[in-house]
Amino acid sequence: MNVLVVGGAGYIGSHCVRQLLATGHKPIVLDNLVYGHRDTVPEEVAFYPTNLGNEKEVGKILRKEKIELVMHFAAYAYVGESVTDPLKYYFNNVASTLHLLRCMIGSGVKKFVFSSTCATYGEPASMPIVETMPQAPINPYGQTKLDVENALKAFAHAYGLSFAAFRYFNAAGAAEDGSIGEHHDPETHLIPLAIDAAQGLRDPLKVFGNDYPTPDGTCLRDYVHVDDLSRAHIAVFEKLATPGTALFYNLGTGKPTSVLEVIQAVEKVLGKPVPRTAAPRRAGDPPELYADSTKAKTELGWEPQFTDIESIVATAWKWHEVNPKGFAK
Ligand code: UFG
Repeated sequence: MNVLVVGGAGYIGSHCVRQLLATGHKPIVLDNLVYGHRDTVPEEVAFYPTNLGNEKEVGKILRKEKIELVMHFAAYAYVGESVTDPLKYYFNNVASTLHLLRCMIGSGVKKFVFSSTCATYGEPASMPIVETMPQAPINPYGQTKLDVENALKAFAHAYGLSFAAFRYFNAAGAAEDGSIGEHHDPETHLIPLAIDAAQGLRDPLKVFGNDYPTPDGTCLRDYVHVDDLSRAHIAVFEKLATPGTALFYNLGTGKPTSVLEVIQAVEKVLGKPVPRTAAPRRAGDPPELYADSTKAKTELGWEPQFTDIESIVATAWKWHEVNPKGFAK
């Protein structure tokens, strides 16, 4: 299938591009490189440095490349920034996405795979999280993702759009061959920061909060390997054949891991201590978030291949060890 990967030079998108190639599909990458890295795009893949909201250009690409399905990874995803600068998030994550969808529907491209997030659930009353639980985001980032989910439902009904929205838990790790990995600027994610701290490339890691109502007092998250996420995106293709299909799936391992357990895993994999300091809780961090992904397992036959934090950290380290400064461009 000819697949337009919007945000295909970003962290999750770039891993998906490789999975598409490995499974015999033809990815075409669209990425404005605001956060993406040109170096991630394989030579054999067509690359368009275009804004997803540019309907004229995107329409041309859809026709020229005979696109059958669009995957959309191109969102701003800094929760804190979404609180201080919500306009940036609504314009990119909602408005630009609507331009992309209008362009697709106008061009007759009606299969869509959308990157959503566990942040759409806010602070759920119980764990693990199932898809039917109420969605009540506590920050604009989560709200923008939920707004798109709701628009997609209406578009499926009205225009016959077929879509799957995947609610990711904590994407982590890197390609097993060490070819690409996680590089955000600024970096805010726990695993790359812990790796950098262990290598002395950054200040000691701040552990945000040690008084949460969890077994060791630090937050529990569900770290899911980026290649496992990618596999789900491809496993859903068949289901999108019927016009008007609307699908929502949680993607996580179902295993809660604390901040201290992640730090221990980094120390074990690198064989070095992670220098750290205790810091106050980070605003907006729920104490625990972990998935029930039974629906993806049952309906898509999806089974995460990386189920323990050490094996996930090992893949991250394989990339960071060779690329301590990340991608050059
Ligand atoms: N943490 C630290 N110190 C740090 C960085 C993180 O203690 O320097 C802690 C956080 O408090 C949190 C855990 O490590 O408990 C994981 O934090 P990340 O920033 O790596 O990931 P988040 O859980 O905050 O964010 C992820 C995605 C977001 C998404 C969010 C949903 O990256 O895009 O889950 O809650 F919105």
